[in-house]
Amino acid sequence: MSTLSISLPGGTWALGDLTVTRFGYGAMQLAGPGVMGPPADHDGALAVLREAVGLGITHIDTADAYGPRVTNQLIREALHPYADSLHIVTKVGATRDEQGGWPPARRPEDLRCAVHENLENLGLETLDVVNLRLGDAQGPRAGSLAEAFETLVDLQRQGLIRHLGVSNATAEQVAEARSIAPIVCVQNMYNLAHRHDDELIDELAEQGIAYVPFFPLGGFSPLQSSALSAVAARLHATPMSVALAWLLRRSPNILLIPGTSSVAHLRENVAGVGLSLSDEDLAELDKIGR
Ligand SMILES: NC(=O)c1ccc[n+]([C@@H]2O[C@H](COP(=O)([O-])OP(=O)(O)OC[C@H]3O[C@@H](n4cnc5c(N)ncnc54)[C@H](OP(=O)(O)O)[C@@H]3O)[C@@H](O)[C@H]2O)c1
Repeated sequence: MSTLSISLPGGTWALGDLTVTRFGYGAMQLAGPGVMGPPADHDGALAVLREAVGLGITHIDTADAYGPRVTNQLIREALHPYADSLHIVTKVGATRDEQGGWPPARRPEDLRCAVHENLENLGLETLDVVNLRLGDAQGPRAGSLAEAFETLVDLQRQGLIRHLGVSNATAEQVAEARSIAPIVCVQNMYNLAHRHDDELIDELAEQGIAYVPFFPLGGFSPLQSSALSAVAARLHATPMSVALAWLLRRSPNILLIPGTSSVAHLRENVAGVGLSLSDEDLAELDKIGR
């Protein structure tokens, strides 16, 4: 399959030797309610994935835990065989229980199994990027990642993984991972209202490592702020577009993976993210999370 050559706002970034558009797509919202089970609209989910690629997006974020297996299988159904330019980033380290919880699964045997399941469900022989997902649903938790990360390094040596990253990680865990093997990205929660990682983002930018915010639009509780609405109204833009445009401006190493189950929202987000923010807009937006 070939992709249209469209220049997306934000340009591209190199995840190791893989070039991706800074505007990517997060596939989690394609699963059923609570990220469990199949989508209500199967064909609609396939249409969103095909539209993302059609718009020129070359970075899709996923995990076998979404559904579980649902988003990976949708990606395969919609897009396999994949264009050479398309790069799929997945994560391991959490599983699902019957209540829809996200219990950790970071023992070496869990991780080996998860990598093989991702390969099978995505229809790949090598995973482009695998993030080790740490912490829990409440956020990062301190503690050594050595045993889990070394397991992934071993799978990388076997040729099953091209590049590694970490997710839901503390700054100390990012440093520990980097002392074991190179990483190409950190995927943590960050958006206009949630600025805990400001310092980490700047450090990673200096090291040429991508920072990929999850919940860029607020996740299950969409961003709501009078300052954001005021800036959006002044620019005749949607608050979501402004939130994404702010992230692109925040640092050159930030890659976007906004989620949506709607072709209309995907188009709106791609169209809106190119808007330019003045210094006055940025100063107003900066105050939201400070
Ligand atoms: N590493 C981790 O632990 C972790 C955790 C969570 C997520 N993630 C990754 O991060 C990605 C992004 O997170 P997310 O999808 O949960 O949250 P998000 O991107 O912050 O927000 C998605 C929500 O925003 C809505 N939305 C999107 N565009 C919109 C628009 N133009 N107007 C109105 N509403 C809009 C979507 O609803 P509609 O479907 O109606 O558009 C959806 O409810 C996920 O897909 C996943 O790949 C990683």
